[in-house]
Amino acid sequence: MKLPYAESYKIKMVETIRKSSRKDREAWIRDARYNLFNLKSNQVFIDLLTDSGTGAMSDRQWSEMMLGDESYAGASSFYKLKEAIADILGYEYFLPTHQGRAAENVLFSVMVREGDIIPGNAHFDTTKGHIEFRKARAVDCTIKEAFDITNNHPFKGNVDLNKLERVIRENPREKIPFIILTLTCNSAGGQPVSLENIAAVAAMASEYGIPLIFDSARFAENAYFIKTREEACKDKSIREIVREMFSFADMMTMSSKKDAIVNMGGFIGFRSEELYRKASVFNILFEGYVTYGGMSGRDMNALAQGLYEGTEFEYLESRIGQVAYLGQLLTDYGIPVQTPYGGHAIFVDARQFLPKVPREQYVAQMLAIELYLEGGVRGVEIGTLLADRDPVTRENRYPELEMLRLAIPRRTYTNNHMDHVAAALNNVYERREQISTGLRIIREAPIMRHFTVELERI
Ligand code: F0G
Repeated sequence: MKLPYAESYKIKMVETIRKSSRKDREAWIRDARYNLFNLKSNQVFIDLLTDSGTGAMSDRQWSEMMLGDESYAGASSFYKLKEAIADILGYEYFLPTHQGRAAENVLFSVMVREGDIIPGNAHFDTTKGHIEFRKARAVDCTIKEAFDITNNHPFKGNVDLNKLERVIRENPREKIPFIILTLTCNSAGGQPVSLENIAAVAAMASEYGIPLIFDSARFAENAYFIKTREEACKDKSIREIVREMFSFADMMTMSSKKDAIVNMGGFIGFRSEELYRKASVFNILFEGYVTYGGMSGRDMNALAQGLYEGTEFEYLESRIGQVAYLGQLLTDYGIPVQTPYGGHAIFVDARQFLPKVPREQYVAQMLAIELYLEGGVRGVEIGTLLADRDPVTRENRYPELEMLRLAIPRRTYTNNHMDHVAAALNNVYERREQISTGLRIIREAPIMRHFTVELERI
């Protein structure tokens, strides 16, 4: 008999999570103004709000925490992290930041000016936020296959090279400070970019003399998909693929809370000493001195160790396998989800799921609320609420897809939890005909509204 798959780790420490009654949850979500970010974590049974900073660190990472050097300047932890970044990613210069958006803030303070155009593949919301905050514009050049959930394209995070070239040709060169590739592409459903596409984008960037930046939060998951889906790379190790991927980028921003499996941290990688120096000024202003930049020494140690663990094939196989396990359960129930399944999350198509709820009533948020009421499971809306209003017209921006994202924390839940999530969503699916109204906004912030928005049921 072929032995079934089993994880290459065992559990040394556990944390209690609590079930609740539907009656409790109805009161809690009303008090939270139908915004799942406003719930207390003990009001949630299985928390799939995000895979960011919610993973379980290993025994080795915890032991690294004890070795942290908390010196203000020149800490050994900084040098340990510097070595890991050079070894795994190949960048000589780096600046630590407290998380990914802080890396964006520092780097974009150097690179982005009012009126600039920044092409990329479905920029993440904080990336777009930092671009629009500087009165510049993010232009999405993702391939159209990404927006058809049934299309089985293996690299739905890819850039449409014709679209990209059009944007470059239609704008003055000096208005495009860089191209940014998000690996994997979170907003398209945790979808990877192929090495072939990375190389083609880099060749175009170099032809027009435009720097290329990677938003690297889930770079290791991207490398796993390259290894398992791109014929030319099947015999390469994850680390070889990672080095090759990053050899194409001039700079990188990193939210270490994802593929480096730490609870907090980020950094910027540079090849150019000059840019590193310019960014250092902003790092000191916004984050902290250049050898800690918003991180404690112990956190830099855990991060250095996490970069090694996050790029091990066996770890990635279990992590991405668990996401696919949930995806398959939902598919078996007939629930419409983005395929192929993403690296960090399953994305449910809310308009297909709840066809009677108008999208003007925030259908994906409504689905997230229904799932919470059903099973105490917290997901997140990736739809019109998150897409914000157009900065000029202030009208709602309706994205191609209204999604409910179920993001799975790394090394945290078992497949029994996945069974619970899938059954809860299936129960909602079975009564979907009775759900015909959604939500209306009663209060919202001018930018990045989904975190704090307040809603009521219609
Ligand atoms: N880039 C990508 C692709 C991300 O997914 C995130 C965060 C960031 C940048 C910003 O990093 O949170 O460390 O400041 N994504 C989280 C999520 C919040 O839930 O997808 P951060």
